[in-house]
Amino acid sequence: MLNFVLLIAEWYRQTARNLPWRQTKNPYKIWLSEVILQQTRVEQGMPYYLKFTENFPTVIDLANAEEEIVLKNWQGLGYYSRARNLHAAAKMIRDEYHGDFPYSYKDILKLKGVGEYTAAAVASFAFDLPHAVVDGNVYRVLSRFYDIDTPIDSTEGKKLFYNLANELLLKEDPALFNQAMMEFGAMQCVPVNPDCGNCPVRPECLGYRNGTVSIRPVKAKKTKVTDRHFYYMVFHNDHQLVLKKRGPKDVWQGLYDFPLIESPSGLDEGEYDAVLGISLSQVKKQHKTKHILSHQRIFATFLYLDFLPERTFWKEDWELAEWSELERYPLPRIIERYLKDDLKALD
Ligand code: ADE
Repeated sequence: MLNFVLLIAEWYRQTARNLPWRQTKNPYKIWLSEVILQQTRVEQGMPYYLKFTENFPTVIDLANAEEEIVLKNWQGLGYYSRARNLHAAAKMIRDEYHGDFPYSYKDILKLKGVGEYTAAAVASFAFDLPHAVVDGNVYRVLSRFYDIDTPIDSTEGKKLFYNLANELLLKEDPALFNQAMMEFGAMQCVPVNPDCGNCPVRPECLGYRNGTVSIRPVKAKKTKVTDRHFYYMVFHNDHQLVLKKRGPKDVWQGLYDFPLIESPSGLDEGEYDAVLGISLSQVKKQHKTKHILSHQRIFATFLYLDFLPERTFWKEDWELAEWSELERYPLPRIIERYLKDDLKALD
């Protein structure tokens, strides 16, 4: 066991990437990096980390920012509840901790949006506290090395991996151990086609010995994916366009898209009049695209309407925006892309 930990630690010392959040003990910056890197690869997250630390150098700067500005900085990263929670937690730190980042695992865990993984990461990286991180990387590494087939999404599995990681944890350097486990999962023990021929722990890896590497870790439930059909009415003229701020309890909360009709299954063009209140002759062009989220596939149809709706047609939550001020609005990627590429291509 010890051997496994020491080998991984040595591997990390020799091969670790030089990442900015590994060169600091600042809990705010470490927390920021961990929230950004959830569900996000390092290459994708890096520019956001740099932008956030530049635009909001301290937790107070983040707390004092307008939510819309925070969302705008997050634009393109997805899972926008992360940004809203980040902002709420920054306000908590400002108001309840006088701007000093909480330094116990228990208090870090109380912050909005912070679960056991993030709390362990911040506690160990910033404060050298003995808490093992358990994320997808750690599940994969441990389930392979010990050839464990207990599902990682079961209560039993969560407990088992949590206990195992904490038993293995290098008490004299929890930060090194946690970084090493994650780096090993991200760079060596990768999800698909890992390079076992080149692995420092292969001689002792039970998954390798038993030929089960490709079927570890085991998941009990398959992720359920829902199909949704969005019909966006892109009302606009040369100067203005109609936007709509998205409400709670759905994807992209707080971001802007267009007036939208959602249909349980796709619509035929012949149904536009009855369902959308738009006749086909008013639609100059259409653009269809698919957007994949973790639990949803969104099939979007953008209806290019080169006029503004009549007053009687307006809904109260629609907003008239100037094209010249579009930069101010936080947009989901699908909308950003349509406005940047597809709409222009259609003009
Ligand atoms: N992913 C999540 N946390 C990370 C970290 N500290 N370094 C690299 N990748 C990560």
